[in-house]
Amino acid sequence: MIVLTDFHRTLSGYADAFALLADAYDGTAASSSELEALIDRYSALILEPRNALLWEELTLREPEETERLAERLRERSAACVALMEKYRALKLLDGAENRTGYFRNIEACIEEEFGSFAVTRQSRVLMIGSGSFPMTPLLIARRTGAQVVGIDIDPEAVELGRKVAGRLGPELPIRLETSRIEQLEGLKAMTHIIFSSTIPVKYELLERLHPLAGEHAVVAMRYGGGLKSLFNYPDRHTEDSGWRLAETVLRPGQIFDIALYRKAAEQDRLIGGAR
Ligand SMILES: C[S@@+](CC[C@H](N)C(=O)[O-])C[C@H]1O[C@@H](n2cnc3c(N)ncnc32)[C@H](O)[C@@H]1O
Repeated sequence: MIVLTDFHRTLSGYADAFALLADAYDGTAASSSELEALIDRYSALILEPRNALLWEELTLREPEETERLAERLRERSAACVALMEKYRALKLLDGAENRTGYFRNIEACIEEEFGSFAVTRQSRVLMIGSGSFPMTPLLIARRTGAQVVGIDIDPEAVELGRKVAGRLGPELPIRLETSRIEQLEGLKAMTHIIFSSTIPVKYELLERLHPLAGEHAVVAMRYGGGLKSLFNYPDRHTEDSGWRLAETVLRPGQIFDIALYRKAAEQDRLIGGAR
């Protein structure tokens, strides 16, 4: 019981620390080392298997309080991860780039992002929540030659993202915009669509995407359940939205997992064909 109380206290401490460091942003990278160290410690806590058991136990004992704590941690850690990308971008543009454990974790995912639905040179890729340091668009464009479009709700992130892409891959076919999905040019032609894990409304966006996306599009929804839901928005059922789960890429030891969706009609056609 003492162990559980301590664990709860530790998690609440992270929620407070995230709030303080998010407030400290002044448009420069002055508080970046502190934030990077905090996020690296938090990532290690999330990936520790013993903590997954403690979290399960806490959830059973105090379901409502733990859900409130989870929501607070998710919101604040998402804001801090977006901020850490700003710091990484500012430092790169200032000539002092460094790579934290968290970024290595994201970069490790690119190869397996689409499971058996590989991205090729002919693919058209959309990343929703491309961030200030658009490493997913950069890595995909560099490794596959596919054209990549990134959108982000935060104009500062798009502005920094464009500068980072201009610095790291001026020759790469990457376009970054603030557009809403309804305004996005060429959406029907996108073959692969990735959702950043830290978008609170990602499943609402998935629903809005349904009438706009091409019939054969594959969606990679990054998510985290259980203890990982303290650092990611979790997955949801999609039966009512016209999307069907095609594959799940579980990644033990990595910060998020990936659910792959296809339009229900397309998925049923493929399953029918395989019978
Ligand atoms: C952690 S960052 C980007 C992920 C990372 N750059 C990558 O390549 O995996 C998440 C981004 O999602 C953006 N975001 C949050 N809500 C959004 C929304 N409703 N639509 C688009 N972008 C959103 C944030 O502004 C933030 O820049």
